[in-house]
Amino acid sequence: MVERKKLAVLISGRGSNMEAIYNATCTQGYPAEICIVISDNEDAGGLNFARSNEIKAAAFERKAFEDRNEHEQAICEAIDASGADIVVLAGYMRILSKPFVERYEGRLLNIHPSLLPAYKGLDTHGRVLEDGAKIHGCTVHFVNSEMDGGAIIAQAAVPVLSGDTESDLATRVLKCEHQLYSRVISLLATEQIRLVEGGVKFDDIPSIDGNDSLFSIDIM
Ligand code: GRF
Repeated sequence: MVERKKLAVLISGRGSNMEAIYNATCTQGYPAEICIVISDNEDAGGLNFARSNEIKAAAFERKAFEDRNEHEQAICEAIDASGADIVVLAGYMRILSKPFVERYEGRLLNIHPSLLPAYKGLDTHGRVLEDGAKIHGCTVHFVNSEMDGGAIIAQAAVPVLSGDTESDLATRVLKCEHQLYSRVISLLATEQIRLVEGGVKFDDIPSIDGNDSLFSIDIM
């Protein structure tokens, strides 16, 4: 049997994406497993989920370190000691330095709740509603040193319906996030996608659940 790739998952809060990834890793034949969950917030709900599922979990609060450099250094050491092959940002709320991003280049992923490059940053759902956009969604991308930058790997779109509140929209997008992230991780773990010269190289992507396109998932 091919060895499963190891995932270090970084979170800051409730960790629902991490939980969805964990559930995917429990399915037959999934090519990766979580080896560590790391948070910059010791009260992050996701840490409890990890511990109760016997996943190694560690918190590194920023205030316990002299500066950003030392904080990141401690996180890198924990990632490297865990033997992680892929680093997955799942609601990790800190901007990472260039050295951190370069250290894990091509194996560092993020999920963002918008159809990038639109709506980088925070409060995406509120801004989408304010602008009257009709389509919204989420994006999984390789991370570079620009905020919410880096090569886009896959996106899932949802409609913005009349009368939607921010919470309605957030729920609809989150449901997509939970499906999209584990699929992309699986593709990276099996080397069907790679970062090449700042762009994504796809190797013979098979159709997913009968869909021909990686970019359309049926969530409605
Ligand atoms: C998600 O919407 C993710 O896209 C964003 O932060 C949120 C984290 O949610 N980066 P959770 O902690 O995974 O529930």
